[in-house]
Amino acid sequence: MYANSRIPESAQSGLHEALESRVNKHAATDFRKPYAPYNVAAFEASLAGWDRRAPLLLDAGCGVGHSTIALARAFPDHYVIGVDQSEDRLSRKKPYPDALMPTNLVFCRADLVDYWRLLADAGIRLDRHYILYPNPWPKIGHLTRRWHAHPVFPCVPRLGGRLECRSNWPIYIAEFARAVELLTGVPAPWQPLEAPSPLTPFERKYRDSGQTLYQCVVELDQLEEQSS
Ligand SMILES: C[S@@+](CC[C@H](N)C(=O)[O-])C[C@H]1O[C@@H](n2cnc3c(N)ncnc32)[C@H](O)[C@@H]1O
Repeated sequence: MYANSRIPESAQSGLHEALESRVNKHAATDFRKPYAPYNVAAFEASLAGWDRRAPLLLDAGCGVGHSTIALARAFPDHYVIGVDQSEDRLSRKKPYPDALMPTNLVFCRADLVDYWRLLADAGIRLDRHYILYPNPWPKIGHLTRRWHAHPVFPCVPRLGGRLECRSNWPIYIAEFARAVELLTGVPAPWQPLEAPSPLTPFERKYRDSGQTLYQCVVELDQLEEQSS
């Protein structure tokens, strides 16, 4: 049945007690996992159509890509990249005929653990960066599977721009915000989100199930300007 989705159940009632030590440890350690060649090839292919001048928008973990298309339509001057590790999701039929598909977007099948680092290593800056409804991994023992507690996360705020994460699990968003604060030194506000026009299928499903949605938005470039 549609619209019967549940908020993640967890034994956690607040921030994970190991969150801060994890984030601090990852911030102090180089994450040296070698790149998989298929991610390097996908990364290069995804940037082949970029003129190196258009502002970049990354839809990280774009799933079936509906948000990527909507964002490409909303920001026609941006070069928009939708990255997901699932070929199956990326190749699902889109809600637009080919003729109406925006031309300023590319889909890329890659693992974000490599893709984010490849962007950072190439010195590429994002203008807008979306992490929409990431898998919440609500079990206490799964902390490091949440993006903000993963070793790759320190390079995410380094990519700059306007970073936005959305979730139906407030603890995920509170942790995400705290991790960004720890890494950047500046408060990362988070709040409930109204979604009259859902951006993604997960957002639509959660909203139609009557759940409260949450978002954290950080303007990373402004933070850098203030601190310089
Ligand atoms: C819960 S879905 C949300 C999809 C979409 N953003 C939405 O809101 O409809 C999470 C997505 O993240 C993708 N994902 C998870 N881990 C990933 C990784 N390491 N690299 C790339 N994509 C990943 C999954 O394949 C999945 O499509």
